[in-house]
Amino acid sequence: MSDDRQTVFSGLQPTGNIHIGNYLGALVNWVKLQDEYDTIYCVVDLHAITVGYDPAEYQKERLEAAKMLMACGIDPNRSLFYFQSQVPQHAELSWILGTMTPTGVLNRMTQYKEKAEAAGANLGLYSYPVLMAADILLYRANLVPVGDDQRQHLEMTRDLAERFNNRFGEVFPIPDALIPEKSARVMSLADPTSKMSKSHANEKSRVLLLDSPDVIRKKIKSAVTDSEPTVRYDWNAKPGISNLLEIMSGCTGRSIDDLAAEYETAGYGAFKEAVAESVANKLAPVRSAYQSLDDAEVARLMQKGALDARTRAEGFQQEIRKVTGLSAP
Ligand code: AMP
Ligand code: TRP
Repeated sequence: MSDDRQTVFSGLQPTGNIHIGNYLGALVNWVKLQDEYDTIYCVVDLHAITVGYDPAEYQKERLEAAKMLMACGIDPNRSLFYFQSQVPQHAELSWILGTMTPTGVLNRMTQYKEKAEAAGANLGLYSYPVLMAADILLYRANLVPVGDDQRQHLEMTRDLAERFNNRFGEVFPIPDALIPEKSARVMSLADPTSKMSKSHANEKSRVLLLDSPDVIRKKIKSAVTDSEPTVRYDWNAKPGISNLLEIMSGCTGRSIDDLAAEYETAGYGAFKEAVAESVANKLAPVRSAYQSLDDAEVARLMQKGALDARTRAEGFQQEIRKVTGLSAP
């Protein structure tokens, strides 16, 4: 890279349903980092096909995800922004790193165990964290903004980088995870002991970025809480209320202590009303930006992003081929 800023890389799967957990846990950081860093953001469409999907539907979903990220503030003029599948160097590096990944390590990955149980195991799902490591290491990224659920994958990426460097020379910086202090794990509204997810069958378990204020209010109103009507931050005794406090804090920038003090005796009805309003206010600009974006323009920007990414990735990948003995003869 021609400048001396540190490089940030992150990815998001283009499977519909981008929710407030993705937003507060990851995307808010992605947007901010553009001011200071060399930022690379990738719609990881090869990762998402590790579970069943419909090709025609997927083609649309991928573009919608890209559009949503732009609506959130990812700026293709400031960030390298593209679809993973359009840059074959990701898959090439993934194969090389796979030869250095002990299967014992993959067997321990929580996300794999959960998804394999839910969707059925396949080799892609199993090697998913290796492709993720390749995404990050390909660009020699220093920082990786993600939600808390990706911690284990990041650890594995760091180990792989070290193993590679020990064997082939100092090629990769060891990347650091950048996980927000608050809202790193937004929990499901329907079950505050499991994380909010894109794929859960219950639509009321998550607030989507395009939900109208009315829908947001209904979903927050139906959020599972408890029967002791005091608003208090206590994950053990009051996970539902603690989750709502975190969401409201993430949406308003106010501290949890401050919010808990204000709403302590307000009653759950009034508290939920306030949470809903803060979420609706936070998402209003995203929703209107989404509506004003043009699909053809988004597609054009993604193609341009892929061209730039391919050029940059190829430069880096040539070094990998050289040190691993795989250069053109
Ligand atoms: P994914 O939904 O798996 O594509 O994740 C995209 C980004 O959102 C990743 O950085 C995740 O760590 C983050 N993320 C996903 N679900 C949550 C959640 N419930 N709370 C906070 N961050 C999340
Ligand atoms: N595994 C990540 C998730 O489910 C998505 C992802 C793929 C990613 N490649 C990445 C995140 C590289 C950060 C960096 O959220």
